[in-house]
Amino acid sequence: MDTRLLHGIVEQKLSFVILFGHGVIGPHGNCAEGSVFRCDAVAQHGIIDGVNERRCKDDTGKGAAQQTCNDLASRARRHLIQRSFSHEYAETEMDRRKAMHPEQLTTEEAQNQTPYRGYAGLPPIAGLASMRDAATEGITVQESVARLKRIHWALKRLHAIFVSRITATPIYELKMAFSLHAHYCAEHVAAVAARVREMRQPPHGLDVSPHPSLDLFFDEILAASGTGALLLGLYEHAVPAVIRALERLIADTNKLFDHPTWRISRFALLEMKDIQHYGDEAIKCLVDDEQRASLSGWLSLLDNALASAGDLDGSVTPIAKPADRHFSAVPYKYDPVPQRDERFQDCYNMGVNAEAMLFNPDVEPLPKTIMLYFKRMREIDVPEMMASILAETAGKPWEYYRDMTRQLWDEARHAMMGEIGFVSLGIDWTKVPLNFTWSLGLNTKLSPKDRHAVLFAIEQGLMPKKAGKEYEWRVAVATTNRLTALIQDYDWADEVLHARIGRDWIVPELGSQAEAQAYGNEVWSRVLVDWSKWVDEGLTQHRNWWPEVYRTACEHWGISPDPELLAYNTTYETIRADLKQVAG
Ligand SMILES: [Fe+2]
Ligand SMILES: [Fe+2]
Repeated sequence: MDTRLLHGIVEQKLSFVILFGHGVIGPHGNCAEGSVFRCDAVAQHGIIDGVNERRCKDDTGKGAAQQTCNDLASRARRHLIQRSFSHEYAETEMDRRKAMHPEQLTTEEAQNQTPYRGYAGLPPIAGLASMRDAATEGITVQESVARLKRIHWALKRLHAIFVSRITATPIYELKMAFSLHAHYCAEHVAAVAARVREMRQPPHGLDVSPHPSLDLFFDEILAASGTGALLLGLYEHAVPAVIRALERLIADTNKLFDHPTWRISRFALLEMKDIQHYGDEAIKCLVDDEQRASLSGWLSLLDNALASAGDLDGSVTPIAKPADRHFSAVPYKYDPVPQRDERFQDCYNMGVNAEAMLFNPDVEPLPKTIMLYFKRMREIDVPEMMASILAETAGKPWEYYRDMTRQLWDEARHAMMGEIGFVSLGIDWTKVPLNFTWSLGLNTKLSPKDRHAVLFAIEQGLMPKKAGKEYEWRVAVATTNRLTALIQDYDWADEVLHARIGRDWIVPELGSQAEAQAYGNEVWSRVLVDWSKWVDEGLTQHRNWWPEVYRTACEHWGISPDPELLAYNTTYETIRADLKQVAG
């Protein structure tokens, strides 16, 4: 026996698992905490997993499983590599090496352990893994599904929290970030659910909580009082727990056998880490030490809830810890009233009708840039409104929530496109009243279905060439400003998609497309404007902000304001944004 060769084998960190038939056999030990294998996996699938302290969840049946392992190990010795199956072997990498008995290998067997390559040295296994890793790693289908189901549930709950907190969270940037993060979660919920359905295990259970402590965990964050608690709960507890679960799944599952799971988990991890990164920044900006200290008890409650669930993915031995409800002691109720931070002034102002100028062929394109940016940034109210539809509509297929969340995120993007436009012109957008009367009216006066009908009527109404998105894009192109043209280019593309989403989901509920549009229009007119009432209540004077902003833009462009345009003073008192008369 060539001992150098054998040492080389040891140095290659040959794993302890041996291929045996179509099963994978590893060392075993007692099923105590920190030990090695899943007894049920042995019994059901002839597979003994390798060292993974997270996997051993109970001691039940260990005697029988031990015997099974011994039997399997005995047969495995006749195959590729002979190993010791000592208990100590399982503890550390060094122990595993010591526990090997390389002197029992034949030369032929040892030579078989040189690094395996494909034809002309090509990487084996399509480059996914080494032959050794492919032969030694892997949780069972059952365990993979169990973890996926928990991740699915967590992403679904996270999605609901992000969506539900958009409307009444005042800070604009957080509304935008929550919109993005909800979109990411919605996409990954769909991908994980699809994978579970492929996995031979009945997919039942996707809609039920995998553990009551997980629900408590997410209920608490959903109901968190104040922005600081919400951010800490989301970005220091929930999102990191999802990341941990994904990282473990990626590490533990076989890259070839369970490749679809491995693949979607990597994609999900990428975006969850983006969410985490934003959350870390947000907490740095918005949560001070004092606030964190005042929430320490609640943050411990979150930790305890996860610990008693065996961590988010259930891969850790659950620790029974008391977890009394705090914020969620009173069940959370969605707040439909939009809130804005202090930069947003005069939010009932409807004193400047953007569309009446934009669609006036007698006005030259360049000044219309301001109205385009205004219209885009004013779209903050669309995520505020769509969040209410999502939060208050139950029982739809996930594709509905996914599509609607995609649209919600698109509308947030449109708002930020307007913000970019204003910044590019050197205009302080806080001087432009960005009213929330649309989201406020729809959220508080209409049913979720009627809100959706209004949204569809508006968006389908933007499809005609002469008075819709294509026209806006032509105006933008005519300004010769590349940024404006680019914004409208993508805005138009998005709105075509949104009209389709409306046709897919709300039209079938209301009859034909024409009927849905007519219904949405009629409902919209009922709630749109309380022009005089807001004045009477002192909520706004409908100040004409146009001249001041137009002058600033003209300075940026290096031109003199057109006196006639400077005097523009058309409001929304009698003319709606679609240029129809406001119902009397
Ligand atoms: Fe939009
Ligand atoms: Fe839209």
